[in-house]
Amino acid sequence: MEGRSLPHSPQSPMRENGKLLLVTTFLMLLIISPSIASWDGIIIGQADYQGLQAFKHSLSDPRGVLRSWNGTGVGACSGAWAGIKCARGQVIAIQLPWRGLGGTLTESVGQLAALRKLSLHDNAIGGQVPSALGFLPSLRGLYLFNNRLSGAIPPSLGRCLSLQALDFSNNFLTGSIPSSITNSTRRLYRLNLSYNNLSGGIPDSIARAPAIAFLSLAHNNLSGTIPGSLGRLSMLRTLDLSGNSITGSVPESLDGLRNLSVLSLNDNLLGGGIPASIGNLSRLSRLDLSDNELRGEVPASLVRLSNLTFFNVSNNNLSGPVPALLSRRFNSSSFRGNILLCGFSPSAPCPSPPPPPSPSPNLPPSPIRRRRGLGTRDIILIAAGITLALLLLLCCVLLCCVVRKRTAASKQQTKAAGGGGGGGAVGRGEKPGTAVGEATVESGGDAGGKLVHFDGPFLFTADDLLCATAEIMGKSTYGTVYKATLEDGNQVAVKRLREKIAKGQREFETEVNALGKIRHPNLLALRAYYLGPKGEKLLVFDYMPKGSLAAFLHARGPDTPIDWPTRMNIAMGTARGLHYLHNDMNMIHGNLTSANVLLDDTTNARISDYGLSRLMTAAANSNVIATAGALGYRAPELSKLKKASTKTDVYSLGVIVLELLTGKSPGESMSGVDLPQWVASIVKEEWTNEVFDLELMRDAAGTTGDELLNTLKLALHCVDPSPAARPEVQQVLQQLEEIKPELAGGGAAAASTSEEATAAAAGPSTATE
Ligand SMILES: *[C@@H]1O[C@H](CO)[C@@H](O)[C@H](O)[C@H]1NC(C)=O
Ligand SMILES: *[C@@H]1O[C@H](CO)[C@@H](O)[C@H](O)[C@H]1NC(C)=O
Ligand SMILES: *[C@@H]1O[C@H](CO)[C@@H](O)[C@H](O)[C@H]1NC(C)=O
Ligand SMILES: *[C@@H]1O[C@H](CO)[C@@H](O)[C@H](O)[C@H]1NC(C)=O
Ligand SMILES: *[C@@H]1O[C@H](CO)[C@@H](O)[C@H](O)[C@H]1NC(C)=O
Ligand SMILES: *[C@@H]1O[C@H](CO)[C@@H](O)[C@H](O)[C@H]1NC(C)=O
Repeated sequence: MEGRSLPHSPQSPMRENGKLLLVTTFLMLLIISPSIASWDGIIIGQADYQGLQAFKHSLSDPRGVLRSWNGTGVGACSGAWAGIKCARGQVIAIQLPWRGLGGTLTESVGQLAALRKLSLHDNAIGGQVPSALGFLPSLRGLYLFNNRLSGAIPPSLGRCLSLQALDFSNNFLTGSIPSSITNSTRRLYRLNLSYNNLSGGIPDSIARAPAIAFLSLAHNNLSGTIPGSLGRLSMLRTLDLSGNSITGSVPESLDGLRNLSVLSLNDNLLGGGIPASIGNLSRLSRLDLSDNELRGEVPASLVRLSNLTFFNVSNNNLSGPVPALLSRRFNSSSFRGNILLCGFSPSAPCPSPPPPPSPSPNLPPSPIRRRRGLGTRDIILIAAGITLALLLLLCCVLLCCVVRKRTAASKQQTKAAGGGGGGGAVGRGEKPGTAVGEATVESGGDAGGKLVHFDGPFLFTADDLLCATAEIMGKSTYGTVYKATLEDGNQVAVKRLREKIAKGQREFETEVNALGKIRHPNLLALRAYYLGPKGEKLLVFDYMPKGSLAAFLHARGPDTPIDWPTRMNIAMGTARGLHYLHNDMNMIHGNLTSANVLLDDTTNARISDYGLSRLMTAAANSNVIATAGALGYRAPELSKLKKASTKTDVYSLGVIVLELLTGKSPGESMSGVDLPQWVASIVKEEWTNEVFDLELMRDAAGTTGDELLNTLKLALHCVDPSPAARPEVQQVLQQLEEIKPELAGGGAAAASTSEEATAAAAGPSTATE
């Protein structure tokens, strides 16, 4: 416990020293207050101790993972027992996936009265699922997939009022799915019973789980029909019933599944027609109906499914022409094995004149299709024409942008408050000003609290978050940052705000809800936040595996040079992100450092920590200004004024550009002067080439040399001691783009797909000027 000292510099990457890594969960952090110096004081209760002993006894443990479960249990709740998490002396989680465990699960698990999560997936555990699990009132997550469990699913599980996730997939379970399974749970959101030997029908009662988002019963021996009541599950995103012996027809009512994105009914015995109502599932991205006995035509309504990326109706008994739009989007392997189906490939032409099945204009043998030899050339010509048109459009757009920026630059002091979108250029990924839908609020797990999601690629519950494995990444003035690994293996970055520095709850929520709507390719997106019952605050961001610019530049090996275009791209990205904050969000960063510039998979800059000052009290913020100064990014006037401005942000940006040029960290000692002073003194002595990172000088002949010099000039302009002399970020961005036009405007990248070109085109039209 004593070794648990945390580093205090925001820059120190914990990863460097394996010994410092602290793996824990947020639940432990929240429930066991950090003010308690040692966890050893909390002794496990007798019932839980005996429950764990019995649990260990019934398992086999060839790798000795459970050897730490020894002695009198003093260490059980202090982190000494592998895989055990406690709260107030009671076991709340057992997490032992991939541990080579065998044997069976004991009914004594029922003694762990506070258990919330049992995660034993990917072991070799056999025997039956203990029915005592159904008597654990707090059980939220039951992850027993990829084991050797057999016997039936205990009907008692229907009593688990709090159950959110149940995954028994890939075992040897038999018998039928108990109709009680969704009896009382209002919160179940994931039910996966796939890859077992379950038989019987799909219980109608599943429709009683209103929150269910993922339902997979695939690859069992289920029979009977699909209950029409399933159409009531409006939160459902995935429905997978493939690989069973389900009969009857596809219910019309499935069009009630408004959020459905995956529908897999393939490999069953379904008959009847494909209901036209499937065309109403506007979010559908994957539709697999292959290997059934479906009859009739492919409904024309399916062409409305604009998000569809996978479609398969092969090996059925379908007939008639395939709607032209579908046959254009999907190749013949999506349609084969339907003897009477036609129009999906040149080798299966429809008899002409085609039977007029519907008045829709989907006449299958379209002209492009019929003249195939010449068609290819036509298509190329058409595509070239479209590309040219898009490029021209893009040029106009960029020109407009530049002109607009020039105009704007002349009246740079008058900023439209928070208005307008897409002022800057568009890069890969997130589009500026992209509207984020309504935030979804979930009451947060065990101890009360509240989880609010904005958007983002991952779905998790408050308990998923609280039980996520948390590995400390760094500590800053506002709090500690963790890399959190969710049960499904996805990772997010979680910032736990320090206590007593944030504003009161209502003000905090107003501000954080505004922050959660900000989206720009060069800004780290806030995806969710959690408010604990005692005022604890967690902010959830995208996880950036490449880490910070500071680490990227200063903590790399000698054999990993960073070339000039990469550095320039980072500088431009940072300038773009800052420009969006200043001009579109009317927001000062206040603490821009290379540790706060993160790098995504493609080494694009993503500014983090923006807007956090709005969540904090004034006292906390003046503290940040004080510490930021110590890092060498603080504009000189801050020592007197104590108020950040766009000009102090530009100063910090200038330091970052100097850092990119020189390869030196502003934290390094340079005989008593800071980085800007050091660079300025060398430039004054006309030893300018000495300031550049040696790596950059290797290929500095010709144009690169000029680019380096011009960028250096610009950076020195940004770090001018007089705030009035510094440019606005708009000018910095513009000059960077003039210095390296091939990286400007994300132009090359944006032109590569029409979608992004359209997004770029949408920029100026929504701008306020
Ligand atoms: C219990 O196990 C831990 C880890 O294996 C070991 O360090 C400790 O000495 C053991 N304690 C007892 C009392 O056996
Ligand atoms: C499960 O069913 C499959 C075929 O349906 C069979 O091959 C397999 O042996 C069964 N497994 C068990 C453990 O019953
Ligand atoms: C269900 O489990 C199977 C096997 O473990 C897995 O491949 C699948 O992705 C899971 N589906 C859902 C919806 O969770
Ligand atoms: C397809 O339907 C026809 C009549 O509609 C029937 O004769 C034939 O057996 C069916 N084929 C299959 C594979 O079900
Ligand atoms: C058809 O498309 C699928 C993916 O959509 C692809 O994997 C497959 O190779 C394609 N087949 C043919 C014959 O083009
Ligand atoms: C559609 O399903 C059939 C049968 O399962 C399969 O052979 C074919 O590859 C699938 N086509 C696509 C595009 O996935």
